[in-house]
Amino acid sequence: MYESMFGNTDAVAHAVAAGLGGAPCVNVATKPSVGPEVDLLVVGGPTHAFSMSRASTRADAHRQSGKPDDPDEPGIREWIGGLGGISAGFATFDTRVSKPRVPGSAAKKAAKALKGAGGRQAAEPMTFWVDGTPGPIHDGELDRAREWGATLTVAAR
Ligand SMILES: Cc1cc2nc3c(=O)[nH]c(=O)nc-3n(C[C@H](O)[C@H](O)[C@H](O)COP(=O)(O)O)c2cc1C
Repeated sequence: MYESMFGNTDAVAHAVAAGLGGAPCVNVATKPSVGPEVDLLVVGGPTHAFSMSRASTRADAHRQSGKPDDPDEPGIREWIGGLGGISAGFATFDTRVSKPRVPGSAAKKAAKALKGAGGRQAAEPMTFWVDGTPGPIHDGELDRAREWGATLTVAAR
């Protein structure tokens, strides 16, 4: 499950899903549910204002990207908040700019929220780096995302 304003987290999410052997890769904007059959939930989003995005930061990103903004569209923060309880294992990732490197990680905040919802953390939160707000993704990061996805297959066992 992921959100993405400029497409970078979308690309990372698909690479992670490929590493997981072709797991479903779904944008939270479609408000997906999590069935009891799900044993590993991988959640990723862009870091906005040192944390997970909010409606206001997504509106800002949409202004910059020129895409229309829908204030009712959830990001991972709202999607996790609406999950209720979960028993699945989880792993989280984010995308962040490397320069200037600032503290704060959407992946860490998402992990905290998923733990609070009852999830079992299967891996440390992971960051994949982009060059600037619109990207692009650093060279090699999509390969690293695929490899990280493959490690999660093992961690979920
Ligand atoms: C409103 C806004 C706030 C941001 N805040 C941060 C931040 O605190 N730290 C950071 O590393 N990157 C920050 N960024 C850069 C985003 O992390 C970057 O745009 C994102 O990784 C791109 O992912 P996407 O293409 O999936 O939207 C911010 C971007 C926007 C639009």
